[in-house]
Amino acid sequence: MKKEYKRTLITTALPYANGPVHIGHLAGVYVPADIYARFLRLNGRDVTLVGGSDEHGVPITIKAKAEGVTPQDIVDRYHTIIRDSMKGLGISFDVYSRTTSDIHSETASEFFRRLYEKGEFIEKTSMQLYDEKANQFLADRYVTGECPHCHAPGAYGDQCEKCGTSLNATDLINPKSAITGNTPVLRETHHWYLPLDRWENALREWILEGHKEWKTNVYGQCKSWLDLGLQPRAVSRDLDWGVPVPVEGAEGKVLYVWFDAPIGYISNTKELYPDTWETWWKDPETRIINFIGKDNIVFHCIVFPAMLMAYGDSYQLPDNVPANEFLNLEGDKISTSRNWAVWLHEYLEDFPGKQDVLRYVLTANAPETKDNDFTWRDFQTRNNSELVAILGNFVNRAVVLTHKYFGGTVPAPGQIQQPDLDVFAELDRLKTEIASALETFHFREALKLAMDMARAGNKYLQETEPWKLFKTDPDRTATVLNTALQVCASLAVAFEPFTPFMSERLCRMLGLGDLSWDMIGGRDLVKAGATIAQPELLFEKIEDDAIKAQTDRLERIKEENKLKNWKPAEQQPDVDFDTFCRSDLRVATVTACIKVPKADKLLQFTLDDGTGTPRTIVSGIAAHYPEPEKLVGRQVVFIANLPPRKLRGITSQGMILSAENADGSLTLIAPSADATPGAQVK
Ligand code: 2FM
Ligand code: ZN
Repeated sequence: MKKEYKRTLITTALPYANGPVHIGHLAGVYVPADIYARFLRLNGRDVTLVGGSDEHGVPITIKAKAEGVTPQDIVDRYHTIIRDSMKGLGISFDVYSRTTSDIHSETASEFFRRLYEKGEFIEKTSMQLYDEKANQFLADRYVTGECPHCHAPGAYGDQCEKCGTSLNATDLINPKSAITGNTPVLRETHHWYLPLDRWENALREWILEGHKEWKTNVYGQCKSWLDLGLQPRAVSRDLDWGVPVPVEGAEGKVLYVWFDAPIGYISNTKELYPDTWETWWKDPETRIINFIGKDNIVFHCIVFPAMLMAYGDSYQLPDNVPANEFLNLEGDKISTSRNWAVWLHEYLEDFPGKQDVLRYVLTANAPETKDNDFTWRDFQTRNNSELVAILGNFVNRAVVLTHKYFGGTVPAPGQIQQPDLDVFAELDRLKTEIASALETFHFREALKLAMDMARAGNKYLQETEPWKLFKTDPDRTATVLNTALQVCASLAVAFEPFTPFMSERLCRMLGLGDLSWDMIGGRDLVKAGATIAQPELLFEKIEDDAIKAQTDRLERIKEENKLKNWKPAEQQPDVDFDTFCRSDLRVATVTACIKVPKADKLLQFTLDDGTGTPRTIVSGIAAHYPEPEKLVGRQVVFIANLPPRKLRGITSQGMILSAENADGSLTLIAPSADATPGAQVK
């Protein structure tokens, strides 16, 4: 760290309370923020970790409308789920509050009023989209249409999710109201704007000159925003859900959710420290770190800092904004609305006691520099071949052998030898490297280095082989196992930020008290003569069936989404009646049906088409009729006048008709009651 700060305020992006939190949120924001907070605490730093739910904004009102409940019902439901599940995962918030609290509306209102009174806003009348049927303006996500940049359909009034461009609702091509589906009209309205252009030079100086050390993704995004030139941004909306705009003549208007949400960091700090909160925001000796996802960069690096500068009164700007990229799930973008996610509260139910496994996997695979993919196979492999096979195995061997040879009493070390010195030297080296990786927000790297400590422990046992030594040299065995137990204790410290549940159990096993980072590498952490607890496995193998249950669930969701999104195919261009009539459609009875050898998809039908000569047709529907013999006796409809085609050496005389369903399955077309074989379909 550049400078010794007195305290560090760590903020985490406030998740929208319109759904539970998922692994994308965790990997992007909450797990790294928690690792960082725990690491600083281990170093004796004064740290506050702030979180809370973002309970305003249009998506919440849309969800409430869809369910026929109030927005407050929605946020009450999800705030509770989010708060409890984060606690369940061990995210060590000092405060986890919400933006519908009184203290938040007071703080946000006061913030707005001061900027208003200082003349920091400009007021503008403009034409905005209005739904005449719903009698309301269509802010942000209340309107969808074609993106003016990439021309994707379904772009929202505030952003196109396809190309990521942030939009004004009035830019959309062919806009439609998300409430009624109507085409909105333009109507005049009045709003307050924060003129970001006034802060452009200050922001340039602060970020582009002052914070070259920021992550390249963050610095790069800021630079492109600044290079494009900043524009005034509306900070109010015509909505009935949010913090009311606290000035006269603003009836029916609320603060824009992105104006009030970051102020939530301040209100939550106030709620936690009613008397001393200001030192956490206004003292230059406080270091502020904002953990966010990449879609929040502009708000945290440009908009909120401009708000703080406009407010003045010594508010400090963040020292760093370590934004992560996105985590995908099994190759697809995580999506709350498509239910394509691993939800934290469900994970905690499905994998009780395995909080650390998720924390570990999400850190080992964190999207720090690029989007990454979470797969259940990788989750299983990392658990079985890293947590179980490396970390758990080392600790287990050290503890089991201590019980075997010394009855569970920590043996006193004798003469220290080179392998012992080497393993302690390795711990010292890794301790410094892990710390410097964590200080610079390289969490994946730090975790890999922590795992190297366990690898060093395994290598040490492999080299010294205490299980062979005891018979011939019990004194040397005592030194080796004492050393191995000291390595276990160092692991309890080094892993505490990453896997705090394991660390706590290990501390209990070894009888360790309070931990501090300095302890790593210590040679007397576990006291000779002390009794250690019976060995318990720190990690268990995850079996295939647990993984299959998860991948099956995802498959089901994919199928459900296919059905939900299914639309009838576009109608084909017209054909004239005479052309249509030339297609000779007939009914036939199936007399035999077999799989075509070596062709997964094909069935060979033999049909009675009334001519007296059996007709052969090869059809690609084997996947949908796995027991073809059961089709014998059924009637089908076929096209008789297609030119014969050879398929796998069989001459196919026509084509059997089937319907393609929403899930991609095929259903044979048949007359509703028995028809004469050969009857023409008219
Ligand atoms: O993107 C989001 O989920 C927002 N709710 C983040 C808000 S961060 C902060 F400003 F509160
Ligand atoms: Zn677009």
